[in-house]
Amino acid sequence: MDVVARAKELEAQGHCIVRLEIGDPDFPTPDVITRAAETAMQDGSTHYTQSLGLPDLRDAIRDHYSAVYGVTIDPEDIVVTQGTSPAMLLLFGALLDPGDEVIMPDPCYPAYPNYVRFLGGVPKLVRTRAKDGFRYREDELRAAIGPRTKAIMVTSPSNPTGAVLSVEDLQMLADIAEETGVHIASDEIYHGLTFCGEEHSILQYTDRAFVLNGFSKAYAMTGWRLGYLIAPREFVRPAEKIQQNFFLAANAFVQQAGVVALTEAQPDVARMRALYDERRRYLVPALREIGLKIECEPCGAFYVFADASDWGRDSLALSRRLLEEAQVACAPGIDFGQGGEGFLRFSYATSLEQLHEGVARLARWARMNA
Ligand SMILES: Cc1ncc(COP(=O)(O)O)c(C=O)c1O
Repeated sequence: MDVVARAKELEAQGHCIVRLEIGDPDFPTPDVITRAAETAMQDGSTHYTQSLGLPDLRDAIRDHYSAVYGVTIDPEDIVVTQGTSPAMLLLFGALLDPGDEVIMPDPCYPAYPNYVRFLGGVPKLVRTRAKDGFRYREDELRAAIGPRTKAIMVTSPSNPTGAVLSVEDLQMLADIAEETGVHIASDEIYHGLTFCGEEHSILQYTDRAFVLNGFSKAYAMTGWRLGYLIAPREFVRPAEKIQQNFFLAANAFVQQAGVVALTEAQPDVARMRALYDERRRYLVPALREIGLKIECEPCGAFYVFADASDWGRDSLALSRRLLEEAQVACAPGIDFGQGGEGFLRFSYATSLEQLHEGVARLARWARMNA
C-alpha cells in the first residue's frame, strides 16, 4: 500500500500523522480567483468553449510569458487543458510514433515515463546526481540521443528535487535541440515558486520546445484542473484534435478564473512564495541537523530531496517505517526512479508548525533507530 493511502488509513483510525508526502499547496485558492469563477458561473460561463481554450485566457498566457520572460508567443500555439497532466497526453500524443524515445532525467516526475509508455513510446532515463545539482551531464545527454529520440524532458524547478536549472543549462539544451533536431519538453508548472535568482523559460532559448504549464501549484489551484500546452505550430492541430476528441474543452468558468489568476493574483503568488521560502529555510538545515544529506540545495517548487541512505537504503521500506513508527509521511525516492533510491522527498506545502513537529518526530526516531 502506498504512503498516501496508508497515511489516510492511519488518520481514519485516529492517528495524528504529519503529512509531508503530498505536493498540494496548503493555502486556499486566492479569493480574487474564486470570486472570478463565481461571477463567471453566474454570468453563464457554463457551456463548451473552443477546444483550444478561451481567447481571453490564451491572450493572458501570451501576456504573462511576455511580461515574465520577454518572449513572444502566438496565442494560436497555446492549447488550454484540464491541468498539466492532460497537456502531457497532448504533447506526447502529438509528438510520438510507436517506438519513439523521450529522454528524461532519473529521478523525475513519474507520470512522464508512464505517459510515454502508454502512447507506445520509450522513456530513456538519463541519470542525474545530487552532486551535479540534478542537472544532465552534457556528454551523457548527447550519448543518449539516438535516431528515434524525439524530445528531451526537463522540469525546472523540479519535482522531486527542487533543483532549478541555470541559464547555461537551458542554453545547452537549446543548442542540442538546434543541432540534433530533437525538441525540448519543458514542464514549467513550478514557475512562480523559485526562491533563488531569476526564473527562465525554455522559450527564451529555443523555439524547438514544448512548454507544459498550469495553475495547480503557484496559484494553489490543484482541484480546479487548469493547465496548458505551448507547442511548435506544426503540433498544434494534432494536439487540438486530441483535446477535441477526448476532452472537448476545459471548464468554461475555470478558464475565466484562470484569466484573473494571471492578471490579478500575482501579489497572492508572491505572498505564498515568501511563506514557502520561509519553510524551506527552516526545513533544509533542520533535516541536515538530524542526519540527512542534502547536497543539492533546493531552490524552487516545495520539495526537499534528502539522501536518507544512512537511515536505510531501501527508500520504500524506510518511508513505511517512518510512517508507522514516527507517524511522519514522506515520499520514497524510488517512486521517482532508480536514481531516487536512498532518498526521501519532503514536501513543505504544509505549515511551519507541522514541519517543526515532523522534524521533532524524525529526530526522535533517528536517535533510537538510525
Ligand atoms: C512536475 C509536475 N508536473 C505536472 C504535475 C501535474 O500537475 P496538474 O495538477 O496541473 O495536472 C505535477 C503534480 O505534482 C508535477 O509535480
